[in-house]
Formats: sequence, structure tokens, C-alpha cells
Amino acid sequence: MAIDFTQYIASYENYPEPGVLFRDISPLLENGDAYKAATNEIVKFARERDADMVVGPEARGFIVGCPVANELGIGFSPARKQDKLPGEIVSASYDLEYGQATLCLRKDAVKKGQKVLVTDDLLATGGTIDATIRMVEELGGIVIGTAFIVELEDLKGRDKIADYDILSLVKY
Ligand code: PRP
Ligand code: HPA
Repeated sequence: MAIDFTQYIASYENYPEPGVLFRDISPLLENGDAYKAATNEIVKFARERDADMVVGPEARGFIVGCPVANELGIGFSPARKQDKLPGEIVSASYDLEYGQATLCLRKDAVKKGQKVLVTDDLLATGGTIDATIRMVEELGGIVIGTAFIVELEDLKGRDKIADYDILSLVKY
């Protein structure tokens, strides 16, 4: 029977600041069956699109992307926050509510023409995933789709990545 993932998403009012309703995937991660079922859905999506690489942004994109890549038997490369990756990198900045943030990816992470799934725990404004996509494409990768456990529809992240296939397991 299909798992209702919503029962494994916790909601916290006024976190991390007043007026924000924070959706937390921790209960899903803490339940082996739910975690496995969620990543299996993403594996299926990636397999249908013939992904041969997974990239996910720090930090929670690792929690989703690594098991997916492992199940598919393909590589995973972490898109890391500034000053965390040695060697040659590409970088992309994106807007936060106050100021900007930067993500980086190893220059060798993605080969030209590689079919890449870009994945994260949650789609909000889309800034994080859009920055990750830009780096993958700068390296010549082909983004075959994006996948999330949670999508916050009010924040319209979907509009920012409208050119890409999007899988989200729970929508609020
Ligand atoms: C959160 C979340 C996504 C991103 C979504 O990460 O895990 O990566 O924000 O927001 P957006 O669609 O508006 O970009 P955060 O930046 O809090 O980093 P963390 O995973 O290291 O906590
Ligand atoms: N939960 C987790 N991460 C987030 C959220 C949220 O509700 N909004 C923006 N990033």
C-alpha cells in the first residue's frame, strides 16, 4: 500500500522566526519504511529519465541525493556552501530573505552530456535548486529532472525552475 508521506512531516509554527510555518522531514528520515519509500519514488523518477549522476545541495540535499544515487549505482556530487570545497570549482549565488548565499560544485563533478538528477529535501523559493542547476549546466550536464520530498507551493519555487521536470512527494 502507498505510504502517506504527509504523516511523517512535522510542522512548527513561528520557526525559525515569527510568522514562518516550518516543515521538517526529520520524522520521515527517522522511519525506515517511510525514508525508503520516499527515496524509492525519486529513484523511479530518475530511472525513467535515465539519470547517470545525482547532485544535491548542502545540507539536506545530501540526505535525499545519496541514497538515491546509491540505489541507482551512480555517482553523487555535493553542491557545498562557500569555502567548503577544495580544488577547482564553479559557483552560483542566490537570494535569501536577507542577503545572498553561494553554492559551489567541483569542476570535475559533472562530465559534458551527463544526465543529472538535481535533488533536495524541500522546494521553497527555488533559489537553492536554481543555483545548483546553473552550476550543473555550466559544466555541460543535462538536468533530466528535479526531485523534492516537500514543496511549499505558496513560495512559487516551481515557477523558477519551470523548464525542468519536477517531482515533489508532499505539497503544502
Ligand atoms: C533549505 C532547504 C532547501 C532550501 C529551500 O536549506 O533544505 O535546500 O532551504 O529553500 P529555497 O527553495 O527558498 O532555496 P537551507 O538553506 O536552510 O540549508 P541547510 O539544508 O543547510 O539547512
Ligand atoms: N522547512 C525546511 N526548510 C525550509 C523551509 C521549511 O519550511 N522553508 C525554507 N526552507
